[in-house]
Amino acid sequence: MSVDTPELENIEVALFVQALQRRYGYDFSQYAPASLKRRIQQLSEQMECKTISGLTERMLHDPPLLPRVLDGLTVPASEMFRDPAMFRSLREQVLPLLASYPQINIWQAGCAHGQEVYSLAILLEEAGLYERTQIFATDLSERALQLAEEGIYPARDAQQWSRNYQAAGGNHSLADYYSARYNLLKIDQRLRRHVTFAQHNLVADGVFCEAHLILCRNVLIYFSNPLQDRVLSVFRDSLVRNGFLCLGMRESLDYASAAASFAPFDECLRIYRLAGQPERAFA
Ligand SMILES: C[S@@+](CC[C@H](N)C(=O)[O-])C[C@H]1O[C@@H](n2cnc3c(N)ncnc32)[C@H](O)[C@@H]1O
Repeated sequence: MSVDTPELENIEVALFVQALQRRYGYDFSQYAPASLKRRIQQLSEQMECKTISGLTERMLHDPPLLPRVLDGLTVPASEMFRDPAMFRSLREQVLPLLASYPQINIWQAGCAHGQEVYSLAILLEEAGLYERTQIFATDLSERALQLAEEGIYPARDAQQWSRNYQAAGGNHSLADYYSARYNLLKIDQRLRRHVTFAQHNLVADGVFCEAHLILCRNVLIYFSNPLQDRVLSVFRDSLVRNGFLCLGMRESLDYASAAASFAPFDECLRIYRLAGQPERAFA
């Protein structure tokens, strides 16, 4: 990268964001500015562009680069049973309440490469609920969705994921749910059977389904407050009464206009419940 002043770089970032929106329709103008700038700088470096303007020019004139650009901007990092205490709470506290429904709809927004989707499928399978569950797994990035559908991951992650699974209350072996070959592991296809992967942009799209549980973890941290507000209102409108919302550990409903519609179910684990109906509606 050339040595640009921060002020000049801010102008280049604004032009990059505008170009991305006008050329391809992806609007990043409401993402948190500091982290977005950092990711655009990293992308410039990875793509060996001397300046952000250079990256803008390449992106404008080379449409096949778009998936790589979106990947760089959206951080599809994840792991299985990430934050095991949250998954333990889903297993022990939330799923028993959802069990009263004849059909359970779960929306996992910002599913990245699918690790959380398959973690959920395992929880549901072990709770005997998977057969009557539909998981809608969405993301902005088509490339992320494609990898999520494939469910193939580096085997080096297996040890950590196995520890997470045990800490989340798993009493089988995580290896029961995948086959390992060479340095890769492939998630068992039976965990895919009630999952629908679809592109959904939280910036622009609306209610996706009528959900009993929504997980959207480690996505809102990348958004500005007004965009977080919008997304949380979409989640409120997508949940059935007494439905659950799980956010990431560094995310919360604080300051959101939808906050008044929710009650904390486990504040520490960022699990909330849509308020407004007596408990008997669930049983
Ligand atoms: C850090 S990952 C979180 C993955 C997973 N939820 C977890 O916590 O492990 C963030 C994901 O949000 C997705 N994302 C970013 N902006 C989005 C948007 N506007 N609409 C939908 N998904 C988005 C990214 O593509 C990425 O896969």
